[in-house]
Amino acid sequence: MATALAYEQFDGVPDEDCAERIHAARKKLGQRLVILGHHYQRDEVYRHADFTGDSLKLSRLAAASDADYIVFCGVHFMAEVADILSRPQQVSILPDLSAGCSMADMANYAAVERAWKELGTMLDPDACVTPITYINSSADLKAFCGNHGGLVCTSSNAARVLEWAYKQREKVLFFPDQHLGRNTADRMGIPLDEMVEWDFNQPRGGLTKEQVGKAKILLWKGFCSVHQMFKPAHIDAFRKQNPQGKVISHPECSFEVCQKSDHVGSTEFIIKTVAESSPGSHWLVGTELNLVNRLAQQQRAAGKTVEFMSPTVCMCSTMFRIDPQHLLWTLENLVVGRVVNRIKVPPAEAEAARLALTRMLDVSP
Ligand code: 13P
Ligand code: SF4
Repeated sequence: MATALAYEQFDGVPDEDCAERIHAARKKLGQRLVILGHHYQRDEVYRHADFTGDSLKLSRLAAASDADYIVFCGVHFMAEVADILSRPQQVSILPDLSAGCSMADMANYAAVERAWKELGTMLDPDACVTPITYINSSADLKAFCGNHGGLVCTSSNAARVLEWAYKQREKVLFFPDQHLGRNTADRMGIPLDEMVEWDFNQPRGGLTKEQVGKAKILLWKGFCSVHQMFKPAHIDAFRKQNPQGKVISHPECSFEVCQKSDHVGSTEFIIKTVAESSPGSHWLVGTELNLVNRLAQQQRAAGKTVEFMSPTVCMCSTMFRIDPQHLLWTLENLVVGRVVNRIKVPPAEAEAARLALTRMLDVSP
């Protein structure tokens, strides 16, 4: 078997040359390859994806794919989900292993297990708490949920997942994103005083037994560094200038931003809603910059104006690590029969994580 081509040979290849060579490699690999691209990917990568989508759509595409190689242009947890949901002989690849998610890193197995034990000093968590992990988390946390009667959610099915959870047990431990948890619980009519923050840096989450007893949902104190940049004042300024304009945000934005928005939803929902709006409409969008710039460009022809919510540039720097050079490197290796950057979840962990993901897919619209 040929030795793997070293990345050094690809570093510095101009983007246009990468595009031509990626095209040629895709042709050679044919049906054996599928490239999945998240909406936050930069254009030079996004254009090569066979399918694009939000986390839920991409999980389903990975599960349904027959390709030998699933090359995931996204972040680490997405490639893990592709590995967990695909068949054992299929290979999931992340073009750059350093493409992680800083929010996913805010919860780890040891901290969640500790929280579960600490909850055990106040109540019986396996009898009264459903653990829910946002899909933006490592596979071992999905496995934790699978093993404790819990499940996964994404930004597009969080309400359905919470509804399911409350049919099983009276409380939810939601990690790692406090905002998705709070925004979703609020939409379901759970009062703010029945939501508490679990500060993972403090013993027992910094909560008293009474606070935990009263809470319907315990929100892990994690957040997305990109979405925390959007502020209510940005919306106020936009509305002043554009009284007819509409505001749409991702549920990883703060509670205050989501309260002031006309629509809140996943990346796929944001794109669809703006695309289906009337010609001439004016939008302020609270999500990652690559998505917003692409949407603005696509909708310009229909006379729609799409503005980014923050005056400062806020991109997902880890999504940005997937560049045409790394994509080309993975594909040309596949052409010579070498797999680089395979994402493989250990079988026992994958099985428990699959249970949590399957529960999610079963309750998703
Ligand atoms: P979506 O599932 O809405 O695409 O969100 C993924 C994500 O990481 C947003 O920051
Ligand atoms: Fe993670 Fe935020 Fe990037 Fe989404 S935008 S992948 S939550 S760091």
